Amino acid sequence: MQGKYKALWLSDDMFDECLEVIDQRQLPFEYDTKYLSTTDEVVEAIKNMTVRGAGVIGSVAAFGIYIAAIEVYGDYEALKEKAALIRESRPTAVNLMWAVDKMISLLKSSDNVVEDARKFAIELNDKEALESQKIAEFGCDIIEDILKKKNKTRINILTHCNAGWLAVIDEGTALAPIYEAKRRGIDVHVWVDETRPRNQGASLTAWELAQDGIAHTIIADNTGGHLMQIGEVDMVIVGADRVSANGDVANKIGTYLKALAAHDNGIPFYVAIPASTFDFEINDGVKDIPIELRSEDEVKYIRGVDADGVIREVRITPENSSAINYGFDVTPARLITGLITNKGVCEADFDKIREKFRG
Ligand code: MRU
Repeated sequence: MQGKYKALWLSDDMFDECLEVIDQRQLPFEYDTKYLSTTDEVVEAIKNMTVRGAGVIGSVAAFGIYIAAIEVYGDYEALKEKAALIRESRPTAVNLMWAVDKMISLLKSSDNVVEDARKFAIELNDKEALESQKIAEFGCDIIEDILKKKNKTRINILTHCNAGWLAVIDEGTALAPIYEAKRRGIDVHVWVDETRPRNQGASLTAWELAQDGIAHTIIADNTGGHLMQIGEVDMVIVGADRVSANGDVANKIGTYLKALAAHDNGIPFYVAIPASTFDFEINDGVKDIPIELRSEDEVKYIRGVDADGVIREVRITPENSSAINYGFDVTPARLITGLITNKGVCEADFDKIREKFRG
C-alpha cells in the first residue's frame, strides 16, 4: 500500500511531502480533501473531526509524527514535544496514543529520524490494513454460520456509527465483514443507525455502503430495539475506540443501548477490532475508560443540505436550553458475544484476551 490508503494518503502536491485526507465533515454532501503539512494542522484535523474513527485517528497520528519530524528537522527531543500535542488531540480512541507511542519508541535510536518516521508510519499503516482484511474474513465466516444455522439466504446486520474504511484503513472493522460478504456473493442488508448527534451512520456509513452498492436502510437511533423484537436483525456488528483488558468496549454513544436490546432478544452482538484498540492498562472499562465530552452545539444544531443544494446548519432546540454531549459509552463484556479480531474471534474475557494477544 506504501502510504496510499482510501481515507488518507501521502501526497506531493505541496512543497514538501504531506498527508492528504478526505474531509469527513463534508460527506455525504461534498467530496473534498485537505492537506495536512504541519503538526498544528494534524492536531486540528483530529480535534475538529476532519478525520475521525479510532483507526484513522491512529493512522493520521502516525503520519503526523512524520510531518512533525520534517518540521523539527529530525530533532528527536523537539519531536517528542510535538508528539505530545498529537497524543492529546482526542481522549477516548486509544489507537491515537498507541500510534504516537509506537512511533516515538521506534524512532528513539534512529540515525535519520525523518526518513525512518516515514518508513515506520507506512509499516504501521500497512499492518493495520492487513489486520482489517483479516477481520473481514473472520467476520464473514460468522455471517455464513448464522445464515446456515437459520437456513436463510439474506442477512440483516445492524451497525452503529461508522466503522468502515473512513474509520479504519483499509476496509474498516465492523463494515469489513460486510464488504467481504458482498465479495463472497452473500445477500447482505445493513440497518444503519443514524448515530446522533453527529450522524456518522446517516452521513458516512450510508455513503460508504452506497459507494459499494450494498443494500442498506438508515434508521433513527431508537429503532433498533423494535426491529430486533420483530425478527428483522440477525446480528449486530460495531467497532470500538478502546477495549479494556477485561473486554469492556468503548464505542460511539448509544452502543450500550443496542447491546442491551440485542442481549434481551438473543441476538449476537459482535465487536470488530484491530489489536491496536486494546488497552491493557485498564482492567475495568466501565469505570476507567475516559469518555470524551464534546460541545453541546453538536446536539443543538444539525447540518444538512436544503432544497437549493446549499449546505446549512440549523438549530433544532430552544435557544436557551442546555445540552450535554458524551461522545462514547462503554458496553460491559458480559453483553458481547465475541470480539472479531485479526487473530480470529475472541471471547470478551480477561484471560481469553490475554492468551490471544499477550501470548
Ligand atoms: O467520534 P468518532 O466519529 O471518531 O467515533 C467513531 C466511532 O465511535 C466508531 O464506531 C469507532 O471509532 C469504531 S471504528 C474504529
